[in-house]
Amino acid sequence: MQIFSTLRRHGAARPLLLILALLLVGLSYSAVSPQRSSAETEMTQQIEEGKALFDFTCSSCHGLGGEGTSQGPSLIGVGAASVDFQMGTGRMPAARQEAQLPARKVNYTQEQIEAVAAYVATLGPGPGIPAESAYTLSLEGDEKAEAIARGGALFRANCSACHGIVGGGGAMPNGKFAPSLAETSDVHIYEAVRTGPQQMPLFSKEVMPDESVAEIIAYLNGAEEQANYGGITMGDAGPVSEGFWAFIIGIGGFALIATWIAKKGARAR
Ligand code: HEC
Ligand code: HEC
Repeated sequence: MQIFSTLRRHGAARPLLLILALLLVGLSYSAVSPQRSSAETEMTQQIEEGKALFDFTCSSCHGLGGEGTSQGPSLIGVGAASVDFQMGTGRMPAARQEAQLPARKVNYTQEQIEAVAAYVATLGPGPGIPAESAYTLSLEGDEKAEAIARGGALFRANCSACHGIVGGGGAMPNGKFAPSLAETSDVHIYEAVRTGPQQMPLFSKEVMPDESVAEIIAYLNGAEEQANYGGITMGDAGPVSEGFWAFIIGIGGFALIATWIAKKGARAR
């Protein structure tokens, strides 16, 4: 207060205060506004690029506003994650109608894919492209081993019926198939779980939290790295082929033991 009253009495006080005030306003404006507006223009630019690519490449099947046609479903509300998955695994743009559109070579850059994804995301709210932290475990040692074990249990409970016990893939009715997951990148596994492509069910965050998906991904990565622990793989095709061998060896073994016991018993008498 002492300073202000002396300042006010001083002749230069008013212009000085004015300059100070202007400086303050200018500084706070430059601190907030330009960054935001440049990020915004970058974003609208990305969306425009995405829309241009979409109109050219995708609209013949999905419609000019993504509303769908007889050749392809509506993309309103499928979200950026679905586009990143479909284009990132080479499924889209589809070439022709098949029983199932398989993963193929990708002919687009990640920037192009993200631009189309950003455009499709503006059509309606849907799952976004996840941050790496959503699908990566940050655990070490025993905790990591436990998380991988949980991932294995989750995979067997939710995924192996279609994808096989270690994710080797499996056949489905009508010429469709659940692909092998050995080559799939982590982000695409996450996106497949969240968007449920084609015959695959969708797992929401309520049903399967991010942590569980990360555990499944860690399990799948471990399963790829895992050396074959000897023995025959039995095709790694899951319960059917493995059950078959369990049947032959298990029941066969019991039959042998039973005959042996019966023989011994008969001799003992
Ligand atoms: C030749 C036609 C065709 C073209 C071209 C095409 N699509 Fe598709 N798209 C389809 C069909 C058919 C499906 C449905 C596949 C299924 O579920 O069996 C589909 C599905 C999708 C899905 C999944 C929707 C969902 O429910 O999650 C996305 C995302 C998608 N397309 C994006 C694109 C993008 C992006 C392009 C352009 C780069 C594109 N598509 C080009 C035919 C096409
Ligand atoms: C009802 C059967 C079924 C179940 C259960 C299922 N999937 Fe799938 N999954 C499929 C089919 C079919 C496809 C192929 C879809 C396509 O080609 O668009 C697929 C595709 C995928 C892909 C894409 C692979 C690629 O790169 O081509 C991933 C990743 C995946 N599934 C992971 C999972 C995980 C993880 C689970 C368990 C949480 C799971 N799936 C449960 C049937 C299933």
